[in-house]
Amino acid sequence: MILEKIKTPFNFIIFGASGDLAKLKIFPSIYELALQKRFPKQYRIYGYARTPMSNKQFRAHFKRNVKANVDKLIYNEVILNELLDHVFYQQGQYDQKKDFEAFSQKLREEKWSQKATHLAFFAIPPIAFKPIVKHLAGIQKEIGGDLKLMLEKPFGNDLKSAKALFKFVRTYFEKEDLFLIDHYLGKAAVRSIFPLRYNNAILNLLLKGEVISNIQITAMEKAGVDERIGFFEEVGIIKDMVQSHLLQILALLTMSLPVHQAPHSIQREKVDVIASLRLDNQKDIVLGQYKSYKAQKGVKKSSRTPTFAAMRCFIDSSEWYDVPIYIRAGKKLSHKHTYVVVEFKKPPYIDKNLESNKLIIELYPKEKIQIKLINDIGKEVPQYSELISEESLACHGDDCLPPYASLILDALLERRNSFLTIDEILASWHFIDEVNTCIKKKKVQMNQYKKDSEGPLQQSQLTEMDHNTWYDAKHL
Ligand SMILES: NC(=O)c1ccc[n+]([C@@H]2O[C@H](COP(=O)([O-])OP(=O)(O)OC[C@H]3O[C@@H](n4cnc5c(N)ncnc54)[C@H](OP(=O)(O)O)[C@@H]3O)[C@@H](O)[C@H]2O)c1
Repeated sequence: MILEKIKTPFNFIIFGASGDLAKLKIFPSIYELALQKRFPKQYRIYGYARTPMSNKQFRAHFKRNVKANVDKLIYNEVILNELLDHVFYQQGQYDQKKDFEAFSQKLREEKWSQKATHLAFFAIPPIAFKPIVKHLAGIQKEIGGDLKLMLEKPFGNDLKSAKALFKFVRTYFEKEDLFLIDHYLGKAAVRSIFPLRYNNAILNLLLKGEVISNIQITAMEKAGVDERIGFFEEVGIIKDMVQSHLLQILALLTMSLPVHQAPHSIQREKVDVIASLRLDNQKDIVLGQYKSYKAQKGVKKSSRTPTFAAMRCFIDSSEWYDVPIYIRAGKKLSHKHTYVVVEFKKPPYIDKNLESNKLIIELYPKEKIQIKLINDIGKEVPQYSELISEESLACHGDDCLPPYASLILDALLERRNSFLTIDEILASWHFIDEVNTCIKKKKVQMNQYKKDSEGPLQQSQLTEMDHNTWYDAKHL
């Protein structure tokens, strides 16, 4: 397999380089790109944060965390040491002009840097976004080259704040200078949904509202919210998981297929779906909170932050208008599992008790696509056959990269298919704001559930409304 390399010299700058995201995901991703020899001769990786550290200390921190967070089978000390020669640290405040001027001088140390791409990754809580944007714009001219920003989700906290943040960023940077990230779009399985649909008439013919009974999207997590409790208590599961990750999967699956694979064509179709989402009333929402949640430090005794949410919604278009879409996500459940089930309508003449055909897309723990077919009709108990392709959703060989590595590579190669547009972000906030307003106004009940369970039992009320049932992960 020929791997595409980055040809232009670049500086990759990590703001918040002392933090969790940097050490758990970004350093290992950079290492995997180095391992695949994707980088040109001339490049530098800069960590920027307030924590005092020398270059030497930062390199040791980088190395320690790569070692701790990459698979042993792909750990190569020689490659890592070569990479570390390109790694630097800049201590600075996020809101001090003088610190950015000092950083600008450092960036200009190398002659090639004047014509390089400077990609700034915001691995930083959103509260620190604005001063960094402003001060980066201030040094843009003197550092030369192309300055681009990679902004982590969450982009805003609701429709209003997302609009305001975008307006702020746009006073300093053009749309083309921005890469808005949802790291689910870096996952191999999610990235393969569009090409699978685009290239396979069989699959795509099945993904039509008129033949589908319902769609279910499930993201169960075994972990709680221990380390991110402060953040989570503010946002809850709907904003954390549904607002971007799960709505993106839904959009990729149900959007009209554009003929051209250009990013703006795909993004336009995704916006259409997200902007058409409709939730009828409070009966379409079930909330849950695991029992020990309030006992955690940093959580108010009166907290109504959901750690589980299930909802029933519809796409307001002629093709999908009566197809219920059930979405659920939760923490501290029996196991970690992410999957999509597309359940097909049964022909009117077959036995009502027979299970329906299903298309199942599993994203975690396995990446696979599965079609369930009924077989052996002549026998007393009908059997099911399964067509399974575990290859179709997974990455292959050297091309396998962790989600953030894929996105960093995409940004440095100017491939924009897997980034969000502000229109998608605003459309999803619009929907999530409606959901949250409904929860508040109608005082949707908060159900307690036991850890290691399947979540609150009340979730079945949503599917029962349409005489459906949640598809249990045990069958996968
Ligand atoms: N952690 C994850 O796995 C993960 C996954 C997806 C998305 N994200 C998103 O990625 C971003 C960073 O996450 P993270 O977990 O790495 O955050 P973090 O560890 O809390 O913060 C990263 C760094 O930012 C600086 N910082 C922290 N609080 C700050 C504040 N109030 N004002 C200014 N600087 C502050 C600190 O560096 P200094 O004090 O050294 O400057 C810290 O080391 C967040 O937007 C988060 O939602 C994280």
